[in-house]
This record gives sequence, C-alpha cells and structure tokens, in this order.
Amino acid sequence: MKIDFIAGARPNFIKIASIIHAVDTLNLKEIKYRLVHTGQHYDKNMSGNFFDQLNIPNPDINLEVKSGSQSEQTGKIMIRYESLLKNNPTDFCLVVGDVNSTMACSIVAKKMNTKVIHIEAGIRSWDMTMPEEINRIVTDSITDYFFTTSVLASQNLTNCGVPKHKIFFVGNTMIDTLMRFKKDFLKPSIWDKIKLKKKSYIILTLHRPHNVDFKEQLHSIIKEILYSAKNIPVIFPVHPRTAKQLNTIHFDNPNLHLISPLSYLEFNYLVERSMAVITDSGGISEETTVMNVPCMTLRNNTERPETVKYGTNEIIGASTKLIKPMLEKLILGNWKSGQAPALWDGKSGDRIIQTIINLKK
Ligand code: UD1
Repeated sequence: MKIDFIAGARPNFIKIASIIHAVDTLNLKEIKYRLVHTGQHYDKNMSGNFFDQLNIPNPDINLEVKSGSQSEQTGKIMIRYESLLKNNPTDFCLVVGDVNSTMACSIVAKKMNTKVIHIEAGIRSWDMTMPEEINRIVTDSITDYFFTTSVLASQNLTNCGVPKHKIFFVGNTMIDTLMRFKKDFLKPSIWDKIKLKKKSYIILTLHRPHNVDFKEQLHSIIKEILYSAKNIPVIFPVHPRTAKQLNTIHFDNPNLHLISPLSYLEFNYLVERSMAVITDSGGISEETTVMNVPCMTLRNNTERPETVKYGTNEIIGASTKLIKPMLEKLILGNWKSGQAPALWDGKSGDRIIQTIINLKK
C-alpha cells in the first residue's frame, strides 16, 4: 500500500509527526509512505526546526511553492503535485488539517483517481470568511476516508450525507505529539533573559488575516491587552505574516516582548508554565486544553468547540471589547479548569494507521 503524507504549513508538521511515529512504532511493512512537503512554510523557524525536533524524516519530495496569494499558492501546489503523481502515482493521499496544501493536494489526488484520506475531517467554524473553512469544506467534499477528532465533527459529516462506515473517530494527532514530546520541552533563551517565573506571564500569538492584516486592528488588540494585563509581561512570538504589519507600529511598553517564532519544544515549554495564552490559533487552544492553561481566543467562532465545552478556552471575539473583563477574571483566579476531550489520549496516530491498513485501494 503506497501512501503520500502531505505536509505544508507549521501545524501540519505536528500532526504528520504523530502519523509517522505510528507507522514506525507499529513497524508495518504493508505501508510504504512518501513524505511530500509542499513548501508552503519554508523558514527554519516555521518548518525546519519542526522536522528536527519532532524527529520527522527529511521530506522525500519538496514542492517548494513558498508564499503567494491564496490562489497563487493553491495553484502552484496543484500543478507541482499533479506532475509528481503523473510520474509517480500512489494508492492513497493522506492530508491533515485545513491549510491550502490540504485542499490543493486532495483535489489533485481525487482528479487522478487516488483515494483521499483526511485527518481532522469534519470540523467547522461555519465562517466562510476564513480560508481554512473553505479548505475544510472542499477537502471533505472529495475525501474518501474521514478521521475525526470529536463526535461533533463526525456528526457534521453525517449531516452532509457522508456514510457512517467512512468516518472514523480516532482523537487528536496534535495531542499525540504534545504528549510524546512533553518530557523534552526546552527552555527558550527569553526565560533567563527577562527572568520569567512560572504562571507570571501571558503568551500572545496572532496570525489570522482579520487580526493582523489591518494596522489599526492589530494595534488596538495589542494596546488593549497591555493595558488590561497591567504589569504582567506579554511574550509575543511573531508569525511572519504579522511581522509585516507590526514593523510599521511602534510600542513603547516594557511589558511587551516581541520575539521570533519559537520552535515547538520551546513554545510549549513557555505555554505549559504560562498564566494564560491569548491567541487566534485553533491548534493552540487544543494544546492549552490538555495542559490546563487558560486560553482566550480572539475570534468570533471556533471549529473546535470541545476546547470551550471541556477545556480552558473562551471565545472572546474579534473585537477588543472582552479583553479587559476576561483578563480581570484571569487575574482574580476565576478561570475554569479543563479536561481532555474523549480520545485525546496520545494514541490517535496508532488508531489511524491500524484503520488505514484495512482500507481498500
Ligand atoms: C497558514 C494557514 C493557517 C495556519 C498557519 C500557521 C492557510 C490558508 N493558512 O497561514 O491555517 O494556521 O499557516 O502558521 O493555509 N511566511 C514566511 N515564512 C514562512 C511561511 C510564511 O515568511 O516560512 C510569510 C509569507 O510571506 C506569507 C505569510 O507569511 O505571505 C503568510 O503565510 P501563508 O502560508 O500564506 O499563510 P499563514 O498566514 O502562515
């Protein structure tokens, strides 16, 4: 059985690591995988470090698409992946998550009669202004086998008419990787540099277009956080998309610490010891849920409602209105505690691989 594992952007590497470790651990000779990196993320900080730290083998193929508009990036991935499949076909194409690489490769594979496997299928924000929601819907509309992280995601698929026997509720590969590497978390240099102490600082991450592509919005979010956090240090590892805007804004506040994107092991070292995380990421709200760290999501919705229902996440909106009351609640020590949702137990990759070996080509 030949399978392409597709990974293109930072959160993909964390998910694909779990699948690769499962193939290695189960030592299944039936599975011959080829790791295809689309090159959507290409910086050492956004890509290379993740391969090194998570013991992901070097990609067999790198499509090297790099950045571009949504369509340019998607188009380039499609053209290059199609050429690869023409010359070297595969039986299955396994995609993870919801980035442009996920959608682009699944379309190409399906049109070449290659079966598509989608990991993290069925989640929905119902917000069609997000490129990720479009990627999820398009990918799921042509997927053959669906692996889900929650019962709700499975239900979303059955509501769209997907037959139940094609849906496998297996849990969360991102949490597999978190659990596997927890013992290896690495202290980043900022810890000693500014003398951080456990539970005494906040982490901020922002990269969604609605938060970072407009200077005024980005400025007012950061200003409100600094004002409401009083003297609590705010550590902000800046995503390259955000850096472009941030370079044009000046903040004169000693509590704001702008740093480059951290490696996986360093970032999660900081998260585990933080007082809270303020973010617009979906994946981070899953990790904070499992680590029982308060999380505030700067979006109007989430495709991961279990992080709110069972976890530590609160959706505080895309405006700045709730930042102050939510930070007051945090500082008073009134934040809810979280527990891991069903099957977020570190074994999802094994379940996926054990299911895949029984699939028909
Ligand atoms: C992408 C994903 C998003 C995911 C995020 C994680 C889509 C639609 N979006 O958003 O779902 O949560 O990755 O980071 O696929 N850049 C660099 N170096 C890099 C990568 C990007 O400088 O290694 C810059 C590029 O100039 C690019 C910008 O960052 O213009 C944005 O990158 P892109 O891949 O288009 O989307 P993200 O915002 O990273």
